[in-house]
Amino acid sequence: MKEEKPIVQNTSDFYHPSPEIIAQANVKDPEAARLEAAKDIQAYWAKRAEELDWYKKWDTVLDDSNKPFYKWFTGGKTNIVLNALDRHVKTWKRNKLALIWEGEKGEVRTFSYHALNREVCKFANVLKSMGVIKGDLVTIYMPRIPETVIAMLATAKIGAVHSVVYGGFSVEALHGRIEDSGSKVVITADGGNMNGKKIELKKIVDEALQRSGAPEHVVVIKHLGIDVMMEQGRDFWYHELMTLPISKNGVKCETVEMDAEDPLFILYTSGTTGKPKAILHTHGGYSVGVHATLKDVFDLKEEDRWWCTADPGWITGHSYIVYGPLIAGATSVMYEGAPTYPYPDRWWSIIEKYGVTIFYSTPTAIRGLMRFGESWANRHDLSSLRLLGSVGEPINPEAWRWFYKVIGKEKCPIMDTWWQTETGMFMMAPMPAQPLKPGSATKPFPGIDADVVNAEGKSVAPGEEGFLILKNPWPAMMRTIFKDPERYVKTYWSTYPGYYFAGDSARKDKDGYFWVIGRVDDVIKVSGYRLGTAEIESAFITHHSVAEAAVIGLPHEIKGMAIHAYLILKAGNEANEALVEDLRKHISHELGPIAKPEKIEFVTSLPKTRSGKIMRRVLKARAQGMSEGDISTLEE
Ligand code: WTA
Repeated sequence: MKEEKPIVQNTSDFYHPSPEIIAQANVKDPEAARLEAAKDIQAYWAKRAEELDWYKKWDTVLDDSNKPFYKWFTGGKTNIVLNALDRHVKTWKRNKLALIWEGEKGEVRTFSYHALNREVCKFANVLKSMGVIKGDLVTIYMPRIPETVIAMLATAKIGAVHSVVYGGFSVEALHGRIEDSGSKVVITADGGNMNGKKIELKKIVDEALQRSGAPEHVVVIKHLGIDVMMEQGRDFWYHELMTLPISKNGVKCETVEMDAEDPLFILYTSGTTGKPKAILHTHGGYSVGVHATLKDVFDLKEEDRWWCTADPGWITGHSYIVYGPLIAGATSVMYEGAPTYPYPDRWWSIIEKYGVTIFYSTPTAIRGLMRFGESWANRHDLSSLRLLGSVGEPINPEAWRWFYKVIGKEKCPIMDTWWQTETGMFMMAPMPAQPLKPGSATKPFPGIDADVVNAEGKSVAPGEEGFLILKNPWPAMMRTIFKDPERYVKTYWSTYPGYYFAGDSARKDKDGYFWVIGRVDDVIKVSGYRLGTAEIESAFITHHSVAEAAVIGLPHEIKGMAIHAYLILKAGNEANEALVEDLRKHISHELGPIAKPEKIEFVTSLPKTRSGKIMRRVLKARAQGMSEGDISTLEE
């Protein structure tokens, strides 16, 4: 890669939208929208909530009587499915495509809103027949196929709570999440295609369930057609269940009326310490938040074809593959496999083939595809594109410019969206009618008040680095950590009492544009995937040769960050290449290929505080040849 230009911080680097983009923008004057919302945040969100259907409108917009356990739209009755499907199938939209899916092997499946609703109703009845009721937990561990979307919606429809586990995770990661959630049913597939390989998901489920935490039932989708073990009485084929006369009205199913604050899903994500935490989101506020952000930031229009390349197993997929686009009544494209399969033009061919108009992806993917040169993109007609988007990690200006020029042909603004599993919706993002600066997520969404502060909580001067905080609540915010409300308060609301601490560092420039720098905790963003050092370290310890492990993230050209592990071996184990390979395999088997370390080093000691905590900061500094900073707490 060429030498990286420093991140721009002056106004001369503004990219201005064209008059056509401004003319068609849903929000013509983003600055005015921000000012308007700031005047009365509750009135703003009430107005946005009015854009959706409700069984019964709310009594109170924001109940902040028990901070930080904020409640939104209390007294309101809804279900996200009411807005994502039910209201559309009553109109001409029943004939509109909700989903266009392409498998890695090239097969295509499409679902109109009518068809998607029918499948969701049928599967909701299947879940009911298995005894799943309101409030029950359902784990969904799937490849990127339409049934993932169907399973999520069916679960929500009957008031149950889904916990989607990314299909790239493996045995221990899955086991821990199934057990912690106490799921009644696990929905999976025989396997999925990824980069020409078959990933045998059912096999992973079987092994995870052997480690305890057994659900009552496992539903298996036949996707690859490979042989799988089916445990009698526990495991059922999806296609068989879907064709059984389950109830007298098999293709109809009432959507369950939920309180706005009833849980919709939990989603496990990595945090600073210990086990992954289950972030809990609700029906009402989350619906309003994803709806408002997608509509304004990506300017969705009836005729758009929207493609978010994420996986439904991450928050980006929840909010902007499944719920946001469906609430908008949009047509969403979903692709099963790898961007480079069979050649590095797969994504560009999909844009051309389906006439995608808005394309939302990640810096890692852009950097990865940049490597192959422009010609792969140039052999496709990408003229359908109108807007581009980026998420997951800071986008370096070089990748931004390549995306802008080679993919967007200098006519598509790039919406760099900063947000988190916890925030549920975009927190910071431009809107199409707003000038951009490559590498900046620009400004907070209307109704969001963000700041950059020092350790004492004081705002820092423009251009200075500090901690990113959010100063007021928003509808799609997490409500708690499932089963661990204390950790919710401690992690997010105690560093700067009264304010939400995001765990990121950032700068704000003199134009009020924010530049997110990266995590300040033990979260590592590998290729945009969020992983925790603690979970990886625990997985190392389960290998027979490892006595102690420390894991850090170091900058990587393509992946953004890469995992480096420092291990102390148990006596009698020889540090050699074969062991390194075995350890990499072990991590891949326990957590998943995304957690495979880039580098493993065997050491005889680790830098620790006197109380025995590993000082990863010191490891990081040493690895990068930087100053170790304050090491007064370092053990002798
Ligand atoms: C990082 C993903 C810079 C950030 C939606 C955040 C970003 C973490 C951006 C959350 C962006 C996300 N620019 N950094 N546009 N978007 N991040 O929970 O560090 O997987 O805290 O949610 O990703 O990751 P998560």
